[in-house]
Amino acid sequence: MTSERLAGWVDEMGAIGGRPSGGVTRVAWSPELAAANEWLLTRARALGLKAAVDAAGNVVCQWTGSAPKESAVVIGSHLDTVPDGGRYDGALGVLSGLEALHRLKEHGFAPRRPLWLVAFNDEEGTRYDASMFGSRAFTGADLSHLLDRVDSAGVPLREAMRRAGSDPADLPGCARIGQVGCYLELHIEQGARLEQAAQAVAVVSKIVGMRGYVVTLRGKPNHAGTTPTDLRRDALAGAARVVLALRDAARATNGLTTNVGRIEIRPGGANVIPGFARFTVDARAPDAEGIERADELVHQAVVKVSADEGLEHDIVETFTHPATQLDLGLREMLARHVAAAGAETLELVSGAGHDAMVLAAHVPAAMLFVPSRAGVSHAPDEYTSPTFYEPALTVLVETIMELAG
Ligand code: GLV
Ligand code: MN
Ligand code: MN
Repeated sequence: MTSERLAGWVDEMGAIGGRPSGGVTRVAWSPELAAANEWLLTRARALGLKAAVDAAGNVVCQWTGSAPKESAVVIGSHLDTVPDGGRYDGALGVLSGLEALHRLKEHGFAPRRPLWLVAFNDEEGTRYDASMFGSRAFTGADLSHLLDRVDSAGVPLREAMRRAGSDPADLPGCARIGQVGCYLELHIEQGARLEQAAQAVAVVSKIVGMRGYVVTLRGKPNHAGTTPTDLRRDALAGAARVVLALRDAARATNGLTTNVGRIEIRPGGANVIPGFARFTVDARAPDAEGIERADELVHQAVVKVSADEGLEHDIVETFTHPATQLDLGLREMLARHVAAAGAETLELVSGAGHDAMVLAAHVPAAMLFVPSRAGVSHAPDEYTSPTFYEPALTVLVETIMELAG
């Protein structure tokens, strides 16, 4: 068995929202993501699955087992990407799930339990700082407080949903976790540990906790040439100080990462003091204590800099995903199939967030990692060689058969 079909799909999917850089942009509720969803719907239906997009934008593909009342085995990941992201983050998991279901059909496998493949919407949270939106809706979380958030163009989420053909009032109907028995996700590692260990596959033990913020600093727009330097209330200077304070705090704190990935300044004239700055903060730590410490550091930095620079500040928490231990029983099952596939078992902690952490709060969930070249991810040169597909696919197929057969 080769993975040529999967490699072909990776190329096809990479062309949807493809960029001159070689990367892809498919953010939530965009025409590009809709095209990717359509691609999956077509393939899933051709395979005989029942497939539809729910109101949260999740593509849910269902293979009804011979015992349809039993809880479903769900394979999932995401098709949305960060801006100018890679072709593998999320997509490889969804396409590997599709490949696994193809192989099972070709083997004449008849599942007893329902077998679902789900492409969760907006795992990345790029557009509304609402990461794992789709998987949260799938697990029944109330997301109504997010609907008035606006994107960088001022479009409220509820409007973006409507434009994409979703009715926000239908979100509660996306909760299907009650029908789910367990969850499996294959994903690229997005780090370099597998490559360094020269191994093809890893089982994920836990996923770090993460918390996001939008920070707004308000000073005073004024003339760039006539305002004495000691009288300036420069919001960008304040933002720059916060960025560096958080970087230094992360350097000094074991396990903590902080990132400011998006900033908007106004009014935006080269000869005008920026009176307004708004930026995101992404903070991660291996446990709840670390996240609370990160929370303190973010607040301390913003409050101190604002006082020093004469700025007003506002800190809005946009998301929290607690650090998550993946299910021991499923991890052992995966490890057994990794060993049976002739590979060595490596357990890794994920520094990236995944839909699995949302599902894991409700059902046993586990993940497999495949190598990322040079550990690069969220960038156009993200790459996973097709030579690494086969071992992980074998493990995925065998594990599905054990769980659903
Ligand atoms: C998703 O890739 C994340 O880790 O934020
Ligand atoms: Mn991902
Ligand atoms: Mn990602």
